[in-house]
Amino acid sequence: MKNILIVFGTRPEAIKMCPLVKELKKDKSIQTVVCVTGQHREMLDQVLHIFHIEPDYDMNIMIQNQTLSNITMRIFENIQKIIEEEKPDIVLVHGDTTTAFAVSLVCFYAGIRVGHVEAGLRTYNLASPYPEEFNRQVIDLVSDIYFAPTEHARENLVKEGKPTERIYVTGNTVIDALKTTVRSDYENEHLKWAQDSRLILLTAHRRENLGDLMRNMFGALKRVVQEFPDIKVIYPVHKNPLVREIADEVFAGTDRIKMIEPLNMVDFHNFMARSYLVLTDSGGIQEEAPSLGKPVLVMRNTTERPEGIEAGTIKLVGTQEDRIYPEIKKLLSDEKVYEEMSRAVNPYGDGKASERIVRILSGKEKI
Ligand code: UD1
Ligand code: UDP
Repeated sequence: MKNILIVFGTRPEAIKMCPLVKELKKDKSIQTVVCVTGQHREMLDQVLHIFHIEPDYDMNIMIQNQTLSNITMRIFENIQKIIEEEKPDIVLVHGDTTTAFAVSLVCFYAGIRVGHVEAGLRTYNLASPYPEEFNRQVIDLVSDIYFAPTEHARENLVKEGKPTERIYVTGNTVIDALKTTVRSDYENEHLKWAQDSRLILLTAHRRENLGDLMRNMFGALKRVVQEFPDIKVIYPVHKNPLVREIADEVFAGTDRIKMIEPLNMVDFHNFMARSYLVLTDSGGIQEEAPSLGKPVLVMRNTTERPEGIEAGTIKLVGTQEDRIYPEIKKLLSDEKVYEEMSRAVNPYGDGKASERIVRILSGKEKI
């Protein structure tokens, strides 16, 4: 029997790994052990709860205002023992977080094979997103099997000289989850509050944007809200205290901007489906919103997810107020621009990525 250890620690990793855990557990030729680092706590637990997944190991490492070194060291201390105990044939990590980086490095030292889910995403700019671009390049350097979500991601890996026979284009597992969450009869009190208005759904959390850049972004949106009386904003605020401080400072007293706690995945997907547009610096949201036909303005200068830009549903608007403000305004005022960005497209697969990954891992497709 093949012994697979699957490790994740943050909200976005959980959203994309839980569908895979479910699929792995259906395969009787595989023993699946689930380990969470707890790099996130509440935001991770929300996802585990939705998927009814009880991890076999929980490192519970999160501390308030943790540094990248804190996270890395605490994972190093914990993962070695778990690997020795479980002796996995392969360890699966996801994406570009410090959890995925630290775990894959320890596996490399221990001579254990790494399978990278969502491999091959690149900006080739180590400062953006920071430190995620570094993490994903290092993870791909030590990985043995690459599950690339798109052809574009596969091409990045091929250009870097990764062995083509170990790269599989699977689609993104986030679409597996999205297929089951959006419902036409969904109701929520926050959505009722916004039902007489055009709703902007906001998220922002990137480490490299903390500080003045984030203040700029929020300032741009505040100006727009003051100018357009038919706009309401819902902002599920990330748990990071540094984000909360800036949000409170800029948005205090603005009654058409509603700050709420992070939504669980099902709620968030339904909020996205009801929104007029999405304003974000998130990675994962760039993959989800296009399939719902929602325009996304991305408050970043780079993206490792060019597929949505090519399809025309995503636009990079940078991090400066004097650029973000006119871009939001244009989308709200110009119907033609809005319609062009509202096409539903799905570059991230058919919702069967997890099935494909399990077939590959169980040897039903050659590795
Ligand atoms: C991490 C990932 C980032 C991902 C993001 C998703 C890295 C380097 N970054 O960044 O790629 O986009 O998660 O959200 O891995 N906190 C809580 N409760 C929670 C979660 C966070 O209180 O459930 C607070 C803690 O004070 C923590 C801080 O948020 O110290 C920051 O969390 P951290 O995981 O270090 O960074 P993120 O910005 O969330
Ligand atoms: N998300 C969520 N609740 C929220 C905001 C986002 O469940 O309140 C989900 C969203 O659907 C997406 C993921 O979180 O799947 C994106 O995570 P995040 O933006 O934190 O990280 P990133 O994708 O930038 O790494």
